[in-house]
Amino acid sequence: MVSFVCGIFGCLCDGAPQVILDGLKRLEYRGYDSVGVAVINNNKIALEKDKGRIDQFIGGLDETRLYGEVGVGHTRWATHGAPCKENAHPHLDCTKTIAVVHNGVLENFLQLREELARKGHHFTSNTDTEVIPHMIEEGMKAGLPLKEAVVQATKSIKGSMACIIIGTSEPNKMICVRRESPLVIGVGPKGAYCASDIPALLPFTKRVLIMQDDTIATLERGRVNLEEIGGGAVEPQFSNVTWDLKMAEKSGYPHFMIKEIYDQPVAIRDTLKVPETFLDRAADLLNDKIYLSGSGTSYHACLSTSYMMSRLLGIDVRPVLSSEFNEAVSDLQGSTVVAVSQSGETADTLSAVKYAKGKGAKILGITNTLGSSITVLSNAYICTQSGPEIGVAATKTFLTQLTALDLLTLRVGLKKGRISEGDYRSMSQQMNRLPRLIEETLGRCEKVKELALKYSTRRNAFFLARGINVATAMEGALKLKEISYIHAEGYPAGESKHGPISLVERDFLCVFIAPRDATRGRVIGNIMEMKARGAEIFSIITEGDEELKEVSNEFFEVPEAPDLLYPMLCTVPLQVFAYHVANFRGLDPDKPRNLAKSVTVL
Ligand code: F6R
Repeated sequence: MVSFVCGIFGCLCDGAPQVILDGLKRLEYRGYDSVGVAVINNNKIALEKDKGRIDQFIGGLDETRLYGEVGVGHTRWATHGAPCKENAHPHLDCTKTIAVVHNGVLENFLQLREELARKGHHFTSNTDTEVIPHMIEEGMKAGLPLKEAVVQATKSIKGSMACIIIGTSEPNKMICVRRESPLVIGVGPKGAYCASDIPALLPFTKRVLIMQDDTIATLERGRVNLEEIGGGAVEPQFSNVTWDLKMAEKSGYPHFMIKEIYDQPVAIRDTLKVPETFLDRAADLLNDKIYLSGSGTSYHACLSTSYMMSRLLGIDVRPVLSSEFNEAVSDLQGSTVVAVSQSGETADTLSAVKYAKGKGAKILGITNTLGSSITVLSNAYICTQSGPEIGVAATKTFLTQLTALDLLTLRVGLKKGRISEGDYRSMSQQMNRLPRLIEETLGRCEKVKELALKYSTRRNAFFLARGINVATAMEGALKLKEISYIHAEGYPAGESKHGPISLVERDFLCVFIAPRDATRGRVIGNIMEMKARGAEIFSIITEGDEELKEVSNEFFEVPEAPDLLYPMLCTVPLQVFAYHVANFRGLDPDKPRNLAKSVTVL
């Protein structure tokens, strides 16, 4: 089976091919193994597609073939099957008068394909998507207009789909369908647009409509008609986006990742403004039976929060990886699952959420994406305020997740009487210091670049800590491995003697997260263990900690801060470290191999 994580874009405007390519560039973070564009000209579909990245594609494009005012485009990331020209979107029907771009996975495509083949349809790819134009063709053969044929096709298809469809029978229209995969419509002075996410629309308009599940929109210049797939008109609810284009671009930084690391003080400042009514609604969902679930970096936010809740609320909450949730947890009646996902579209997390809901749990979503599937499935949600994160590696979304989860923990503590009013006030004030402390930490990061150069040729690294900063260590290791391809493991420092220490030999890199908190003394013991085996020690310490400087080969000092803030402060140099190591190794930190920003397949 071929399935996708992809970006799709469509428009009705002058110079459509250029606009589509521009939109696709902004969606490239969603997938970048092949690309394609189809436009209607002279009542025919002109199609160009190929394997490879968008810039490569543009370089080889015969622009005289692509002109028109109505078109669709696609940037793809294949999870099975070879990325190749045939499998690239858009896909056409037999008559080559209908073009479709799709993001999602069709579950019953094999069966549909067989039925269509029996009726004489000819397929040119091994994608699931290709059944869609052929099903629409069938409907139109039976006399249905384009939109009605799309509706009919959609009803037979099982699975997730965000689709944009154009057809020569109605060359001034674009049909957009959403089920599970995200899709956003924008209307501006020069045309109408549709894309997988908001940043792709920002150069053209700030007036956007986030499509809801099982809706279909017909776009014409200056007109949007919205309906439920099952029938029934829906009033289009447009809103104005407050992000500007600059926020979605690199602002002069060489890569999105480093820009986004430096965005963190602002992102945290904005997230600290989450209205108390939102926090209260979220806090009211929490009881004494809490699960925290997420994937990758979002799971690290869950792990960190489990320590925080245990310490501040005296409640032992359980962090569970989303991909394991359905196997690991069964007793969910009366519980609340806090689902953490920056994209709000991660298939593993959505699957855990659906499973938990089915067993009677309440869902609290923590996401950076308003209108995402998590927000739709949750009883309440908190939206972190990172703005768009384009770099594949999560950075600012992680720190804002921690910020939102800390605010939530404090609010629950206050409401349940587990934190006094005085303590709540003083800890809230501590939280408000965070943006400035992150700025101060970033201001010291030139030193991290030097250390990245020194360690950039290493093949292995351990990231070690105790207590809440085990999550920080795991996040540091994940950042390094995913963008620099150095093998890195993050785990609790006390575990070394139970196995991993046998790997340690002269110059083996051990990064210790060792701020001045309750675990510091025991962490020093673990450093000595590693040193005794010849390890190279790079420690993240609190400024002025002379003893730790003494026992480390290299160190980075974060500002003195309350314990609550150390996980965030210590993460910053680890992000910057991973970024520079990747650069020194000649790798593109924004686009690590084999990864995509939204992992919408199980
Ligand atoms: C790592 C990273 C991934 C994501 C994970 C979950 O840098 O970005 O590990 O954290 O795929 O994604 P979300 O948060 O969108 O559910």
